[in-house]
Amino acid sequence: MNIGVLVSGRGTNLRSIIQSIESGRIRNAQIKVVISSRADAPAREVAAKHNINEAFIDPTGYKGKRWEYDLKVINCLEKHGVTPENGLVLLAGYMRILSPEFVKAYRGRVMNIHPSLLPSFPGVDAQKQALEHGAKITGCTVHFVDEGMDTGPIILQASVPVKGNDTVEALSTRILEQEHRLYPEAVRLFVEGKLMLDGRRVKILL
Ligand code: GRF
Repeated sequence: MNIGVLVSGRGTNLRSIIQSIESGRIRNAQIKVVISSRADAPAREVAAKHNINEAFIDPTGYKGKRWEYDLKVINCLEKHGVTPENGLVLLAGYMRILSPEFVKAYRGRVMNIHPSLLPSFPGVDAQKQALEHGAKITGCTVHFVDEGMDTGPIILQASVPVKGNDTVEALSTRILEQEHRLYPEAVRLFVEGKLMLDGRRVKILL
């Protein structure tokens, strides 16, 4: 399975997936390319350190032209063998919304990780939203990407209790620990052909 990872930031989820592949926990899969929407994303260095092809696709000048930008992303994915027929695209801290055309082309083959128990607290600052809302439990979600914002079919979730004296930073750190366990697990299930999409439901074949 050829994997492409789209990033914009730190790259700790990218690193956790790379490690799961290198350790053999995820078999028969390779990250073919990491594509960043930001020139200074530390995730690019994570890729380079592991000898993975990486590319920066500059979003400057593509305001209101999401599909034109996404075409460049798709061209880059395809060039590295991550095709709509047999590839897997992972969003890992990617700060752009995919165009409906991208979603359609790769439907059922794009995953995202979000730091809340969806459908609660979609969008940015999910940990802050949970804290300010007074939620007692939050967590993280791996889901397939559809046309909405964090609305696609849920693959796996992990819960994280909110503590009385929590800060956004402390809560984010505890959620991130779960993200690093959950995302590779979802990728492993996909690569092994164990995820079956049935409407909104994702069945896990054991
Ligand atoms: C994570 O919190 C993830 O859930 C969200 O963006 C953050 C990315 O972190 N989508 P990193 O770049 O993987 O360290």
